[in-house]
Amino acid sequence: MSYQNILIAKEHNIATITINRPEKLNALNKVTIEELHHAFSTLETHQDIRAIILKGSGEKAFVAGADIAEFAEFSVEEGIQLSAQGQETLFNFVENLKVPVIAAINGFALGGGLELAMACHIRVVSDNAKMGLPEVSLGVIPGYGGTQRLPQLIGKGRALEMILTAGMISAEEAYRMGLVNHVVKQEELVSFCNEIAQKIIKNSPAAISMAIHAVNANYKEGENGFETEIKSFGKCFGTEDFKEGTKAFLEKRKAVFTGE
Ligand code: COA
Repeated sequence: MSYQNILIAKEHNIATITINRPEKLNALNKVTIEELHHAFSTLETHQDIRAIILKGSGEKAFVAGADIAEFAEFSVEEGIQLSAQGQETLFNFVENLKVPVIAAINGFALGGGLELAMACHIRVVSDNAKMGLPEVSLGVIPGYGGTQRLPQLIGKGRALEMILTAGMISAEEAYRMGLVNHVVKQEELVSFCNEIAQKIIKNSPAAISMAIHAVNANYKEGENGFETEIKSFGKCFGTEDFKEGTKAFLEKRKAVFTGE
């Protein structure tokens, strides 16, 4: 598939997806969401891709939100569909991806942009970035998981303040709240994310996907995270990666993981 609004680069075991609508501050329209879904689902099947970095093009924005022009005339039914489809095809999809996704937040991450960053597994932000969920200023609420993931990350009180005031916070404030893992200079953002990815790709892809699954279980209604952890822990013992990892340790050499 050729893409209109995203770019994909691959280097060794790391893929970088760039959302590429800088003239609209990388706002997420329908096409972009579909392309991102296609890119993530394809990269997940590539055995050699072991970490993904997601960023926005340009120096101004990661993603300035869902594309307001596209939904301005929507009905109640269309609103429900927009939110449900977006959550399924992109936001929940990324959160549950077997390959870790690092959000390189290179500027504004607003509305759907912050929601996308929150669906990623790790967030690194450049010092110029501004983040917020401004939806109530438009007469709507966050619909791509923002009302759920923001309280998970920073607590209910702070999340409600951000959502209800529709305000923007700085990179430093986001770091203090635990919304992002690191703040770095903009020119160092991609290389810093790459360093994290380099650490990840040394480890067992099979164990990494189980770890993501087990951590996510804590936030799934009706699922007991401890039980999921027990099952996932047990499954690791049936993988080639586990055999290789333990053998390599005992033989005092570096493990060569296949993800099997
Ligand atoms: N949806 C659609 N278009 C968007 C957009 C969005 N979420 N965010 C920015 N754009 C477009 C603007 O309409 C403008 O397009 P134009 O040049 O064709 O008029 C272009 O991107 C540049 O944005 P602009 O507003 O001129 O840049 P700015 O530097 O003055 O302001 C922001 C930057 C991020 C503060 C401002 O664009 C903004 O508030 N965006 C909307 C944020 C939002 O509410 N997101 C949540 C959506 S649910």
